[in-house]
Amino acid sequence: MLGSDLLSRLSSEHEVIGMDKDEIDIVSASDCDKAIQDTSPEIVINAAAYTNVDACEKDRAGCFAVNAEAVKNICEACRKSAIRIVHFSTDYVFDGKANAPYKEEDPCNPINVYGESKLAGEKYLQSLSDNYLLIRTSWLYGLKGNNFVKAILEKAKAKTYIADTMEKVKAKPTKSSILEVVDDQIGSPTYTKDLAAAVALLIEKNAQGIYHVTNRGNCTWHQFAERILKEAGFDKIEVKPIKSSQLKRPAERPSYSVLSKEKFIQTTGKSMQPWQLALQDYLNNYRSER
Ligand SMILES: NC(=O)c1ccc[n+]([C@@H]2O[C@H](COP(=O)([O-])OP(=O)(O)OC[C@H]3O[C@@H](n4cnc5c(N)ncnc54)[C@H](OP(=O)(O)O)[C@@H]3O)[C@@H](O)[C@H]2O)c1
Repeated sequence: MLGSDLLSRLSSEHEVIGMDKDEIDIVSASDCDKAIQDTSPEIVINAAAYTNVDACEKDRAGCFAVNAEAVKNICEACRKSAIRIVHFSTDYVFDGKANAPYKEEDPCNPINVYGESKLAGEKYLQSLSDNYLLIRTSWLYGLKGNNFVKAILEKAKAKTYIADTMEKVKAKPTKSSILEVVDDQIGSPTYTKDLAAAVALLIEKNAQGIYHVTNRGNCTWHQFAERILKEAGFDKIEVKPIKSSQLKRPAERPSYSVLSKEKFIQTTGKSMQPWQLALQDYLNNYRSER
């Protein structure tokens, strides 16, 4: 998802070589070495990860192999020529107990395996590279790959048909015309196209170290779902707020994972657009791609 937007955004100003899993398995140290030797890059951007947060709980080894050990491979492959590394991490390195946006230097304390593995990857990066940009981001959605916005739109399409039928027979809404979405997790939804533009800016500024980068503002998943449906014109679907515990998902999520945008603004002089506007942009692009 993010990788494809980075490729299109950065290609306008740089020579960019995109590599998929078929061309480089980052878990393989020799694949990483070979990719560096074949391409001699100035910068390596790692947008690959094991991102299925629930699957990580059952596949700890597989998750750590991609999110942590592979970062070590990339660092070692880049170290010989002091190649700059841009790497991505997550709001899930925090435990969610804060009540103000997390700053880059705030202590990490992940509460699920995915978060633990991403933090282990961060530590490899920080100890094995002297030339890195580590970007923590959150709640990504983009045109490629699966994400929350697409899932809500798909569910809404299916349920609209049922809601229309209910209206015709003048029945009250039932579970089939209602979406249930959690309202006890707060974060910042982020459009990967905006994130890719922010990465371009940070590269231009030669930014080093950790940066938090998300769209502006924050909301609950429930508020995000309501906004998606409103913007996409699904006015017959009701969104019922539920608690995370009702979902019984394998991985616990932080209840508050808003990231501070201050350092990004100070370094670039720019502010990311609010999540509501980013969503409008996304839906326009999503419609024109169909
Ligand atoms: N998605 C979010 O909400 C979110 C939030 C915060 C941070 N992040 C971070 O942002 C970055 C980008 O996330 P994303 O959502 O764009 O990820 P994504 O859509 O899941 O893409 C990750 C890519 O990595 C590939 N990959 C997995 N294992 C690999 C391996 N061993 N070698 C090479 N490629 C491999 C996957 O290929 P297959 O699909 O074929 O396995 C997939 O194409 C990641 O670092 C992620 O941790 C994401």
